[in-house]
Amino acid sequence: MTKCLSQYALLILITTCPTLFCSSVSAFERRPAPLFPPDKIFLLEEPRDWQDKEEILDRLRISPGDKIADIGAGSGYFTIPLASRVGDKGMVFAEEIQIEMVNYITKKVDNLGLNNVRVVFGKVEDPSLLDDFFNLVFLTNTYHELEKPLLMLENIRNDLKYNGKLAIIDWDPEKKSPFGPPLDLRVSKETVIKEVERIGFDLIERHRFMPYHYFLVFRKIP
Ligand SMILES: C[S@@+](CC[C@H](N)C(=O)[O-])C[C@H]1O[C@@H](n2cnc3c(N)ncnc32)[C@H](O)[C@@H]1O
Repeated sequence: MTKCLSQYALLILITTCPTLFCSSVSAFERRPAPLFPPDKIFLLEEPRDWQDKEEILDRLRISPGDKIADIGAGSGYFTIPLASRVGDKGMVFAEEIQIEMVNYITKKVDNLGLNNVRVVFGKVEDPSLLDDFFNLVFLTNTYHELEKPLLMLENIRNDLKYNGKLAIIDWDPEKKSPFGPPLDLRVSKETVIKEVERIGFDLIERHRFMPYHYFLVFRKIP
């Protein structure tokens, strides 16, 4: 009878607290938010007065000739202004793990006749880019969807050049917003900083002008 009860208690624990038992969710791994649905891609194209892209790119001090990776590029909302800032001598890699997004950005880039954008179909744990190539890796509204953040960060670190920067902009769970992912699916800036620093980066800048987001910039530690 006691054994039967304890087995029952264990079953209740497993079904109600799966994170306690699921080995894939360690202290540094969490349940990611669902991927942004491709049939809602039009929402990613709407102008965002709450996330001023020119102000963001100004603060990143992007220069002609820079090599930039836009990871989780979605509809390419940031890819196109990034491409215009880096110019003909620069290069932007727009990377995605959803084929619908890859196809959408490819069409957009072709229609605009841009020669300085490469569209990449990556993997959940690896953006599949080029080692030691980028000045800047840029993730906007994407970090909370990463299924394997630590593996992604290790690969991003390999892709960055000496002194390369990683910019992460994401929905702040401390700032309620009329849209965006539910608060419990967002990742706190403290968690992001802990995860990124653990992989070999220093936090070098925090920008505080967005109403619903944090904006963190890290530098790769050599
Ligand atoms: C909310 S959208 C943001 C798109 C774009 N950055 C923007 O701000 O408009 C997040 C995107 O990240 C992509 N994503 C999620 N996990 C990813 C991963 N591990 N590698 C690359 N892209 C990922 C999703 O497919 C989705 O299109």
